[in-house]
Amino acid sequence: MVKYVVKKGDRYWPSKAMKDIALVDKKIYKESQDPRKFWAKLARRGLVWNKKWDKVYEEKLPYFKWFKGGELNFSYNCLDRNLFKKGNKTALIFVPEPIDEKPIKWTYHELYQKVCKFSNVLRKHGIVKGDIVSIYLPLIPEALVAMLACTRIGAIHSVVFSAFSSDALKSRIQDGKAKLLITADGYYRRGEKVDLLKKAKKAVYRTSVKKVIVVPRLRKSFRSLSFKFKDFNKEMDSVGLMSEPVSMKSEDPLFILYTSGTTGKPKGVVHDTGGYAVYAKYTCLWNFNLLENDVLWCTADIGWITGHTYAFYGPLLNGSTTLIYEGSPDFPKIDRWWKIIEKHNVSAFYTAPTAIRMFMKAGDKYLKKHRMKSLKVLGSVGEPIDKDAWNWYFKKIGKGRCPIIDTWWQTETGGTLINVLPGVGPFVPTVAGKSFPGTKHLVVDDKGKIKKGKDIGFLVQEGPFAPGMLHGVYNDHKKYLDTYWRYWKKHKKKYYDSSDGAFITNGLIRITGRTDDVMKVAGHRISTAELEDAINEYKTVNECAVVPIADKIKGEVPVAFVVLKGRDIGNLEGRLKKHVDNKIGPTARPSFVYVVKDLPKTRSGKIMRRILKNVLNNEEPKGLMTLVNPDCVGEITELVKGKVNKGKMVRKR
Ligand code: PRX
Repeated sequence: MVKYVVKKGDRYWPSKAMKDIALVDKKIYKESQDPRKFWAKLARRGLVWNKKWDKVYEEKLPYFKWFKGGELNFSYNCLDRNLFKKGNKTALIFVPEPIDEKPIKWTYHELYQKVCKFSNVLRKHGIVKGDIVSIYLPLIPEALVAMLACTRIGAIHSVVFSAFSSDALKSRIQDGKAKLLITADGYYRRGEKVDLLKKAKKAVYRTSVKKVIVVPRLRKSFRSLSFKFKDFNKEMDSVGLMSEPVSMKSEDPLFILYTSGTTGKPKGVVHDTGGYAVYAKYTCLWNFNLLENDVLWCTADIGWITGHTYAFYGPLLNGSTTLIYEGSPDFPKIDRWWKIIEKHNVSAFYTAPTAIRMFMKAGDKYLKKHRMKSLKVLGSVGEPIDKDAWNWYFKKIGKGRCPIIDTWWQTETGGTLINVLPGVGPFVPTVAGKSFPGTKHLVVDDKGKIKKGKDIGFLVQEGPFAPGMLHGVYNDHKKYLDTYWRYWKKHKKKYYDSSDGAFITNGLIRITGRTDDVMKVAGHRISTAELEDAINEYKTVNECAVVPIADKIKGEVPVAFVVLKGRDIGNLEGRLKKHVDNKIGPTARPSFVYVVKDLPKTRSGKIMRRILKNVLNNEEPKGLMTLVNPDCVGEITELVKGKVNKGKMVRKR
């Protein structure tokens, strides 16, 4: 089997075999020293433009524009331009959960036809350029059709994760005033049929949504009694094939994706067309070193940015083959993923550390029979990957042959920002690496001064800002300014605030995690404030505080401390978890709920979450003198100790 890495000292580097096939080497960092020139060259080479831009980059902070005045169509660049040479090449492989269902393979030509048709369905229902279309679909091929069809006519898609609750979908529909919703009757998960339509129906009630198009995933067709709900397949049969792509300005919005911040309400992160397209294309191409017959499998759901950029758009912009799957990693058997890799000759595999840790825990005897020799590059995303998980991934999945590309980025950044490249290296456990060519990151102190060495500081980005970066928060200039720019503006610095901490080790960047009240639970981004708001809405809860605690599999999990209004009997913990499922979704469900008499507060009434964190981590609580009610800390400590002693909770990683 070909070895793509070699060990030198305690580090791994690309082998000759990797260098021979690498699309870029270390010269790329030199070539990218003038980011404007660099990105302009790639934009010219990599995309078809209807009109060339007048200005490569314009910066009027907090906003900036890439390829100003340029025009293109996103779906044209994913599909039409591939038809001539790659019309019969597989664009998408879909592996359904039921084993008696065959995988679906669509060529570029087939996908193109479906997208054209569905864009005509959207037109038929009055959707025009600039309208927002909500998509609440599981990871099925129709999700790609729906998203690309929006981009063909210039509609802005807003995908909502299918495991999110009806309330979460409703609030996102309302924020964007979406005209149309695309959903499914349901999907398969762990052998069960999950009803999605019920949640969708509830969500659209009394909203701006005029029509709901339903993909019949579980049944053959969908029969609706209301004119509002339409069957996806019947709609497809009712329209023609010809669909002229609408020319879009480079800076026109392409999609909105909601993500959690430090305040209760999720933000609608807006991505533009031209900059995002260039960035998605080249980060995907170079990170995964996509060659002609390669297959990329990014396991993320399309409800997250990773799914947008690396399960769908990145591979298609490169005329490559992408694989998606339905269901969960370990069902019906623990080796499902590894079988899929072998069956479909996956060459680049991209997943989150939580999944790796889950497999690690399950043992690895069964892995011996899976050689997975098609693999070339392994990727990690969404949360820090610890040394054990890195080594296990490297040895058991990559068989010690494949580099691990640990990619740091965010919903806001559209594509990966800090990682090493397969042909460059080095591949070091827990270290993300270098700024992607053409981007620049710094680790600074609280005044914005550059920090050297292993001192932890704030991770910021300096302009020209990466082409994949967000172009605002939907309908909320103030939030955009406050979240990403205001702090550094005060210190007269033009930095994008990542809200992550980092330090430099041997010239490489190591991420230390969020510096704000955002948790990463199994790689999912959860806001403490949003979760607290949801819990506070429960009828017997007077107030609450949520803090994260380390978890061996999920990285971290939320723990809730609640003060009740009066008495609440029975299984409060169970009911509260269900309540969170309904308000946000199971991803935000607290792992533990403690009912306490009081929460530690300062004289001004501020809840001291830091003290709760200290207690959970078995540390000496700091700053007790500032509290009006220091006595409550003892009581909370006793409660927490009880749970740890019962072996229900782990402390500290
Ligand atoms: O804290 C960082 C963490 O995930 C956050 C972004 O989350 P989200 O917007 O959901 O996007 C996830 C997919 C890109 C970051 O602020 N994060 C992401 N990748 C890494 C990471 N932390 C450590 N290492 C990573 N590779």
